[in-house]
Amino acid sequence: MSLVLCLVLGILASASGQPNARASDLYYTDITPVTDETRYTTLNPDIQLNEMNKVKHSKGNIVFTAGERASGDRMIVNHFDGDSLTSAKDVEVLMSYPAGASTGVTLTSIEVYVDMMADDAGGYLTKGGIGQTHVEILLTSNLTRSFVYETFIYGY
Ligand SMILES: *[C@@H]1O[C@H](CO)[C@@H](O)[C@H](O)[C@H]1NC(C)=O
Repeated sequence: MSLVLCLVLGILASASGQPNARASDLYYTDITPVTDETRYTTLNPDIQLNEMNKVKHSKGNIVFTAGERASGDRMIVNHFDGDSLTSAKDVEVLMSYPAGASTGVTLTSIEVYVDMMADDAGGYLTKGGIGQTHVEILLTSNLTRSFVYETFIYGY
């Protein structure tokens, strides 16, 4: 067999052995203004919010994390969104991985960088999480004029 064919077969073999994972595997909502009637916890009263680790870097700048990088993992999601609002609103974002059928990727680490006009934000895992193959992440911020975030999800 030629060297080229060996290489092609090798690449195909390793590609088909990889779980299918792209940033498009993430489902996410717009940065959505909510009221006490429409916020996630009102619509889903039975769901337990698991707070992510929270580090405040400066006013309006917070990093939420869960889990840790592990050897052999890789970035499977990098997603960015931002919005400014005409007046201060309570906002929420819901993200869900994977968007569709299981990708077979076990999640090792989740990092969400948030920047907003308000002082505080919340970052929660509402379903699944580290060590599992799916996760749902809720971000919240009250009375803010802007909300920007970037999400990284790692797994193997
Ligand atoms: C936003 O307001 C709601 C309702 O008062 C409260 O439950 C929630 O903890 C607040 N979120 C943040 C991040 O302060």
